[in-house]
Amino acid sequence: MNQKAFEKIELPNVKNIIVIASGKGGVGKSTVAANLAVSLARQGHKTALMDADLYGPSIPMMFGVTVERSAGGMKDGKEVIYPVEKYGVKIISIGFFIQPGQSLIWRGPMASNGLTQLFRDTGWGEIDYMIIDFPPGTGDIQLTTVQKLSLAGAIIVTTPQEVAISDARKAAAMFTNPDLNIPILGIVENMSWFTPANHTNEKYYIFGKGGGEKLASEFRTRLLGQIPLVMEIGEVSDKGTTIYNQGNKTIIETFDALSHLISEIIKVNA
Ligand SMILES: Nc1ncnc2c1ncn2[C@@H]1O[C@H](COP(=O)(O)OP(=O)(O)OP(=O)(O)O)[C@@H](O)[C@H]1O
Ligand SMILES: [Mg+2]
Repeated sequence: MNQKAFEKIELPNVKNIIVIASGKGGVGKSTVAANLAVSLARQGHKTALMDADLYGPSIPMMFGVTVERSAGGMKDGKEVIYPVEKYGVKIISIGFFIQPGQSLIWRGPMASNGLTQLFRDTGWGEIDYMIIDFPPGTGDIQLTTVQKLSLAGAIIVTTPQEVAISDARKAAAMFTNPDLNIPILGIVENMSWFTPANHTNEKYYIFGKGGGEKLASEFRTRLLGQIPLVMEIGEVSDKGTTIYNQGNKTIIETFDALSHLISEIIKVNA
């Protein structure tokens, strides 16, 4: 398997493509992808978010755009689809093409083709950062993306406990496979500790401690950040709004620090 052997999807106007991956489901990939994208956009970067979770797209709900549909049009004699824009982020999700509540019945190769089409046929415009929200694991969708796109790197999301770390290790190993050789920009540890709303200086390590740090050192990369388990994060996602519309400053600072760090790392790697 040689990366060069795959027909690449050329996105010449997209500068840096970053995938958000994990081994285990439900660890917070979409949460990190969505808030990172909004944070980058707020810092003035032209930002896109691709929801690559074709079978369980959660980005439309998190952005409150469940009834929106992508507009189509013609550009340079070719048919294009246009992203839905919300909170300064250009979003594409399979959710914009299927009825709410419907699910996709594409098998592996069809899903890969469908995803390729979404990347290629979208009129993205000029983009500084494209964030891709992966489904969990290392299936067809992830392989297609990493083989066909020229990625700036991957961010691995994990929770601190051993079962999540051991699955995250497998996802990380996909990127470092010598045939792919995609830089792991770092690890984000989510649900690192719980802080009760009325005891803001207390931290309860309910899922254990040190997992993200351990994974980072194993893959000779950095722990980019630790995100606490707080009610506000789940609430803003469910309401289709962002962390910038709630009162917990720590969460805002955490995501802003994360997006700053990532843009610094990309600058250095470039
Ligand atoms: N730090 C956090 N504090 C509180 N709730 C959180 C936090 N991170 C994620 N959640 C909540 O946990 C649930 C799962 O998160 P999310 O959908 O981001 O995970 P995922 O890894 O994308 O899942 P999937 O593998 O199904 O795509 C969501 O309801 C989300 O709002
Ligand atoms: Mg998700």
